[in-house]
Amino acid sequence: MTKKVLVFASGNGSNFEAIVKYFYNKGLTCINGKTISDAAPQVIFELLCDKKEAYVLKRAKNLGIRSFYVKFDTLADFLTQQKGDYDLFVLAGFMRILPEKILKILAPAPVINIHPSLLPKFKGKDAIERAFREGVKKTGVTVHYVTKNVDSGKIIEQREVQTAGLSLDGLEARIHSIEHSMYPEIIEKLLFKRRVLVFGGGARENAIAAKIKKSPYLDKLFLAGANDGFKNLGENIEFIDYNDLLKKALTNGVDMLVVGPENPLCEGIADIFNKEGINVIGVNKYWAQLEGSKIFAKKFMQKHGIKTADYKVVTAESELLAALKDFKKRNNNAPPVIKADGLALGKGVSVPDTFDEAESIAKSFLEGKFGKASSRIILEERLSGVEVSIMSLWDGDTLVSFPPASDYKRLLDDNRGENTGGMGAYAPSKILIKQKKQVNKYLKVLQSALKSEKTDFTGVLYSGLMLAKDDAYVLEYNVRFGDPEIQALLELLDDTKGADLLDIFIKMGEKRLNEVDLKFKRTGTYCVTLASSGYPENPEKGAQISGINSALKQGCKVYFAGVKNDCLCQAAENCTSALASCNLVTNGGRVLSLVKSGKNARDIVYRAAETIKYKGKIFRKDIGL
Ligand code: GRF
Repeated sequence: MTKKVLVFASGNGSNFEAIVKYFYNKGLTCINGKTISDAAPQVIFELLCDKKEAYVLKRAKNLGIRSFYVKFDTLADFLTQQKGDYDLFVLAGFMRILPEKILKILAPAPVINIHPSLLPKFKGKDAIERAFREGVKKTGVTVHYVTKNVDSGKIIEQREVQTAGLSLDGLEARIHSIEHSMYPEIIEKLLFKRRVLVFGGGARENAIAAKIKKSPYLDKLFLAGANDGFKNLGENIEFIDYNDLLKKALTNGVDMLVVGPENPLCEGIADIFNKEGINVIGVNKYWAQLEGSKIFAKKFMQKHGIKTADYKVVTAESELLAALKDFKKRNNNAPPVIKADGLALGKGVSVPDTFDEAESIAKSFLEGKFGKASSRIILEERLSGVEVSIMSLWDGDTLVSFPPASDYKRLLDDNRGENTGGMGAYAPSKILIKQKKQVNKYLKVLQSALKSEKTDFTGVLYSGLMLAKDDAYVLEYNVRFGDPEIQALLELLDDTKGADLLDIFIKMGEKRLNEVDLKFKRTGTYCVTLASSGYPENPEKGAQISGINSALKQGCKVYFAGVKNDCLCQAAENCTSALASCNLVTNGGRVLSLVKSGKNARDIVYRAAETIKYKGKIFRKDIGL
């Protein structure tokens, strides 16, 4: 796999040299004619310079890199002859604007540039000096695609530099050292793009797949179990079991697996894929017990001094009465929450109002209401306060978290009705500074707990927190992103500043989350779930859905869950167009998520919720109020 890169530089050339040396140190290119192993993919660098005296030409000579001196007015002719050979064009201090005519010659290979500011601020020349003279608190480095307009193409990555205490020289030095580590890495990621498999078929996985699809570092997206509403985002892999999926993933060169739901994680999908060297975003089987067993989670919390509600484990009906009696004494006669130990599709929690009710619910659990999942239960103290969901990423060393999100579990407005998978969410949660401090304090404790356990997984940890008067208490752990919280949270990731989900996942795999600075839009985001009547017990299916395109036009994102493509052309092998021309029908309880951030976001989401029509549509009207 040989890649060819043409670097355009006509100045000092320190970036050029840093790039070449980075690839040389990784055994991916040769300098001074030194050969590299045949097995390694090879990157061949060449230099193009339009200034005869430029120091970069000397650097090229010393490094043994082929260079071309080309006068700018003959550049088009030169590039026309060279065309077709290169995978990537890299501007590194070329100090020229490439006119459209030249960009057309270079296409379709991407052209990228590095600029020493946080674009769109300080476009053009002397960016560092201008930022310094203006006295900005922070500036930085931007890598972006090149268009005919000065420093205006889509941003690939951006890194900040604080200016405090730095002289102009100091600032320049800091910026250049960031450039020298950032640019080569980005070039590597653009040359060796990832093949990603997203596992799962709900709105959460639709949102994750849609984000990954936008990444500059994606080669190809594969989907396992996608519903008809988003299967057109990638190539679908049918599979019999996880080993079969692994085999097919390997055949397709997949190098990353992103697991949406908890079940496969609890069943050990991460362990199976990790063994073959595939980077998995999802916890291993052992740590999946944080979600798969409430008792396991409670023990973890107790061991690490993480605050949680008081509880009692009951493992047989014969223990129940004594346990309830003891619980009553310990908790001032307040009835307990009943929780199944294992996974029960989000239904294994019951909140009785009296002890009699608690007893009969506990009995039904122990008698097998949720099969093996409720053969052990816990009686848990009922806490009051503000509930928030915190989604964190863990790479074995560093914990990085999204802002707190608020979700709506009950079916009906004002938190009435049955518990559901989630009827909507908004983020960030509207919480007080004191509560934010509680969250941050908790996250520090969690990070050291995970560290002290030497947890070696790369994945997601979701903390369901109750922010009580005195402190944050953990209600539950999940080992995956919350649905619908993550649909809302991903909308907050600021991709205009280069906050890229796939890049975050890549860094997780490399245990470099400490370098990730999650950039969020300074705004609110809303997600409303449209469901089917009869949900959660017995949702109606087969109702024809209309209005999706209008909702999209109103600026909403639509992520699909319980839908099926029932179009007449379904028989045709190539039918992938769930949206435009086909007949989408309901096929489950939660049908889709509508998401919007920014100005008037809530109004827009609710307008779209009205626009989309199908028989039996239900949704809550009070999300984010
Ligand atoms: C860098 O600051 C880069 O951001 C800008 O030009 C400068 C080139 O420096 N586009 P060098 O020639 O790589 O030393």
